[in-house]
Amino acid sequence: MSTILVTGGAGFIGANFVYYLLENHPEDRVVCVDSLTYAGNLSTLRAALADSRFAFYRQDIRDRAGIEAVFQKEKPDAVVNFAAESHVDRSIDAPEIFLQTNILGAQVMMDACLAHGNVRFHQVSTDEVYGDLPLDRPDLLFREDTPLHASSPYSASKAAADLLVQAYCRTYGLAATISRCSNNYGPYQFPEKFIPLLIANCLSDKPLPIYGKGLNVRDWLYVADHCKAVDLILRRGRIGQVYNIGGHNEMRNIDIARLICRALDKPESLITYVTDRKGHDLRYAIDPEKIHTELGWSPETAFADGIRRTVDWYLANRPWWEEILSGEYRDYYRKMYDDR
Ligand code: NAD
Ligand code: TYD
Repeated sequence: MSTILVTGGAGFIGANFVYYLLENHPEDRVVCVDSLTYAGNLSTLRAALADSRFAFYRQDIRDRAGIEAVFQKEKPDAVVNFAAESHVDRSIDAPEIFLQTNILGAQVMMDACLAHGNVRFHQVSTDEVYGDLPLDRPDLLFREDTPLHASSPYSASKAAADLLVQAYCRTYGLAATISRCSNNYGPYQFPEKFIPLLIANCLSDKPLPIYGKGLNVRDWLYVADHCKAVDLILRRGRIGQVYNIGGHNEMRNIDIARLICRALDKPESLITYVTDRKGHDLRYAIDPEKIHTELGWSPETAFADGIRRTVDWYLANRPWWEEILSGEYRDYYRKMYDDR
């Protein structure tokens, strides 16, 4: 039996990963470390908390002593680091916390891994570290050797963490891997992000804010496919390697907004163009050839199915997101969108 420590497991992808492990690896224990920022939600882990193979610690990854105590108690065999500040718009507004959590927090986790006999470490990174691609060159894709060229404080902090992971591999021999995934969607995504924001606004007949002209392109992947890829890399990936994760599913923002309107039978007149994001990346697109050939990974969820499942999940779990919308998120929304 292995013990896998998942940081950020009360957030969107981390929670999906916790459930993925519990379902697919009955032989493993899963320990979650999460400080429960605005984006963390313990109710997301309710079913996991009822499982004797799961343990939760409310713990900040920047806190060395606290992380050391968790390592001493749980003796993890592997760490998967999802914990991060993850929203680009917030990073433009207030970058400092992104540098602290995403870079220094990752360092604390790596130091703990080294101090406990070189515990296997996986860093969950993002395709945003590569910057963006032009809209008129569909032939160009992000490969693992594409130079880092971050645009936002968020992506710069993730790129810095990636460099640090690689430095720890080379200098201290840390047994680490990195994955860089494209945009995820699915259950439990915080409603500040594009797809759940569109769904929640549609369901309240509120305007759907589209930055700029809505022509920016993202490469969408269903969250369960990301979880499967991370699990494969953790168990079979080559130490020191970077793996891109994506499923060749590029979509323009405006087309996503129209699709959500259709899925919920709402008029497209809800679509409202607003002032563009500063430094807004034009296009992301992943070349997943390496993970496909080395680890046999391919996405299993077609976008039409994934989006239907996601919409159905938000319809069936209204209390989960309505609770968020009624809290401090209201102030965030006003600040970000009123008079935009
Ligand atoms: P999220 O914002 O939904 O969740 C982040 C979680 O981390 C929350 O539970 C939060 O409480 C926790 N956290 C934040 N700061 C912490 C700290 N200092 N100590 C402990 N816990 C802390 O994020 P997400 O969308 O699930 O993203 C997870 C990871 O995946 C991030 O590293 C992100 O960069 C990466 N990623 C996300 C996407 C995407 O589309 N969402 C795509 C590729 C990569
Ligand atoms: P987001 O979900 O924030 O992910 P990221 O910026 O990390 O790719 O945004 C996805 C796309 O949707 C991005 O091009 C910005 C755009 N967007 C809007 O047009 N309106 C919005 O209200 C939000 C949150 C995003």
